[in-house]
Amino acid sequence: MLTGKRIKIRPLEEDDIDMLFQWSNDEEVNYWSSGAWPLNSLQTKEQLIEKFLDSPPDSYRYAILNENDSLIGTIGFREINVPSRSATLFIVIGNKPYWGQGYGTDATITFVRFLFTQWNFHRISLDTWDENLRAIRAYEKVGFKIEGRQREARFVLGNYHDAVLMGLLRDEFLTLHGKL
Ligand SMILES: CC(C)(COP(=O)(O)OP(=O)(O)OC[C@H]1O[C@@H](n2cnc3c(N)ncnc32)[C@H](O)[C@@H]1OP(=O)(O)O)[C@@H](O)C(=O)NCCC(=O)NCCS
Repeated sequence: MLTGKRIKIRPLEEDDIDMLFQWSNDEEVNYWSSGAWPLNSLQTKEQLIEKFLDSPPDSYRYAILNENDSLIGTIGFREINVPSRSATLFIVIGNKPYWGQGYGTDATITFVRFLFTQWNFHRISLDTWDENLRAIRAYEKVGFKIEGRQREARFVLGNYHDAVLMGLLRDEFLTLHGKL
């Protein structure tokens, strides 16, 4: 269990699947996280169990809990590059009333510290899209810097948007937030 200021992070459990099912099929959650809805196909609970709990992971996803130990979102990483010691972070606070209250920043700081100190990553990347200013601001508070944009790489509700690419190096993070 990882402990932040207000959040905790633990491995996913089978009981989490009902909530993940709701979020993975929620239009607003998907709009912000991927700029897209509907998904190419709605995911069933069985598919989510297979994806998150059964199969050998090509990504690692954990549960984010609030102060009362209720599930409010998930965070994880994928695209591990071993020689360069880098990976790509993703986060979704699926419980919408928790948006904009500092939980995402708290979870990201806590998780990124784990990735730099326990997994010994050197660099963490992520990508979002230009209209997701809340996500960009939260990532900047963690220390991520905008490194580039992919012009009109996302198609959202009839309009093209830029993808925003961000990155954070271990030393930058530890300078900003300390080791503990
Ligand atoms: C993105 C996400 C993880 C951020 O977590 P969060 O808990 O909502 O964000 P925080 O409250 O920690 O920080 C948000 C910051 O953005 C600011 N913000 C919110 N809306 C904003 C807007 N429209 N424009 C600019 N800044 C905005 C907040 O004021 C806050 O900054 P501050 O502390 O300097 O005031 C969460 O909102 C989420 O999961 N959203 C849905 C899915 C998603 O977008 N995932 C990310 C995909 S890349």
